[in-house]
Amino acid sequence: MKRVAILGSTGSIGQQALDVIGRLPERLQVVALAAHSNLERLLEQAEMFRVEAVGLLCPPQEAQKSLPERLERAGKWLQLYTGVDGLCELVRRADIDIVVVALTGIIALKPTLAAIESGKTIALSTKEVLVGAGEYVMQQAHAYGVAILPIDSEHSGAFQILQERPLETVERLILTASGGPFRQRPLETFESITVQEALQHPNWRMGPKITVDSATMMNKGLEVIEAHWLFGLPLEQIEVLIHPQSIVHALVEFRDGSVLAQLSVPDMRLPIQYALLYPERVDTELPRLRLEQVRLLEFEAPDLNRYPCLGLAYEAARIGGTMPAVLNAANEVAVQLFLQEQIPFAAIPALVEQTMRAHEPREATLQAVLEADAWAREYVQVWRQKWY
Ligand SMILES: NC(=O)c1ccc[n+]([C@@H]2O[C@H](COP(=O)([O-])OP(=O)(O)OC[C@H]3O[C@@H](n4cnc5c(N)ncnc54)[C@H](OP(=O)(O)O)[C@@H]3O)[C@@H](O)[C@H]2O)c1
Repeated sequence: MKRVAILGSTGSIGQQALDVIGRLPERLQVVALAAHSNLERLLEQAEMFRVEAVGLLCPPQEAQKSLPERLERAGKWLQLYTGVDGLCELVRRADIDIVVVALTGIIALKPTLAAIESGKTIALSTKEVLVGAGEYVMQQAHAYGVAILPIDSEHSGAFQILQERPLETVERLILTASGGPFRQRPLETFESITVQEALQHPNWRMGPKITVDSATMMNKGLEVIEAHWLFGLPLEQIEVLIHPQSIVHALVEFRDGSVLAQLSVPDMRLPIQYALLYPERVDTELPRLRLEQVRLLEFEAPDLNRYPCLGLAYEAARIGGTMPAVLNAANEVAVQLFLQEQIPFAAIPALVEQTMRAHEPREATLQAVLEADAWAREYVQVWRQKWY
C-alpha cells in the first residue's frame, strides 16, 4: 500500500488524482491533502477519504474563527497545517510515502524540497518547480535518493519511452502541443482576445493558469525546461511539434533514426496513475484509445510569431542561471493580471520579455532563485503600471 499526500487536491490534477486513488483502494491510500484557500472542498475531501492531515497555504480570513469547530466536525483527529512552512511540515509526516505536487506555481518549491529532504517520492505536476529551480531540485533528489516521477502527460510519455534506454542513444525528444485555442486565429485579432476565449482549451480541462499558458504556448516552453532537468537532455535535443489531436504525447528519435512514441486518449488520470503505481501497470477501466475512431494524427512546426512565449522560454533556458526563474515569475504574474482583466493577452509575452531583458542572471543557487523570483514579480507590476 502506497500512502499518498496531495498538494493541490482541490484543483484539476488533485481531483483527478483522488479519482485514480479511489479506483485502487487496495494499492493506494490518501493520508494528507492540501490546497491554497478552498477550505470547503478540502474538508469535503478530507471527510470522504478519512485523512488525518490537511494543509492550506492561505486560510480564508472569514473561516479563521469557525475553523476549530469545522475541523472537529470533519474528523476528530484532523490536523491542520497552514502557510508554506505548514505545508513543509505536512509533507515531512512519517505516514507519507509519495507526494503529488499539483499546486499552481513556484510556491510549491519549498514543500517539494521538504518532501525530497524527508525521502518522499515526488509525483510532479507543478512544472514551475523545475523551471525555476531545476538544477537545485534535481541535485537534492539525487542526494536524497528520491525519484521524481512526472505527471505532465508529455513527460510521462517520454519517461515511459526512455525506460532503461541509454541517453547516448537519443537523437532528440519531441514534446507535442495542441496549439491551444488560437492556433488558427488571425494574428491581427490577438489584441482583442478575451479571458473567456483563452480559457477554451480544445482538448484538456485544466486550471486557469495552465490553460492560459497553453494558449500562449508558454506551457510548452516551461515543459521544455522541465524535460531538460528531468531527463538530463541538452536543450538542442528537445523539440516541440504542434499536434492538435493531443493523442501522441511524446516521441523519441534514436540515433539509428527509429522513432518511438507514446499515445493515449487525452486524460490526465493515465499519467497520474502511472506515476502513483510506478513501475506497476493495472487496468482501472479508464478510457481506451481507438485509433480507428481518431483516424487522423497531424503534426506541424510551431510558429514563433504566433507563440512568442515559446521562443522566450528557449532563450531563458539557454541563458540559464536565474533566467528561467525570472521567466516563470514574470509569466505567473502576467497571467494572473490577464485573468483579472487588467492587461490584454498580448501583454503577457511583452511583460515577460521586458522583465528578462532587465535581469542580470546569476548562478541558480536556491537563494538566488528565490531572490530573482521576488525581483521579477515586483518588476512586472512596475512595468504593467507604466504600460497599462
Ligand atoms: N490540469 C492539467 O491537466 C495539468 C496537466 C499538466 C500539468 N499541470 C500542472 O499542475 C499544476 C496544477 O494545475 P491544475 O490545472 O490542477 O490547477 P488548478 O485546477 O487551478 O488547481 C490548482 C491547485 O493549486 C491551488 N492554488 C490555486 N491558486 C494558487 C496559488 N496562487 N498558489 C498556489 N496554489 C494555488 C488550488 O487551491 P484552491 O482550490 O484552494 O484555490 C488547487 O488546489 C500546474 O503547475 C499545472 O501546470 C496541470
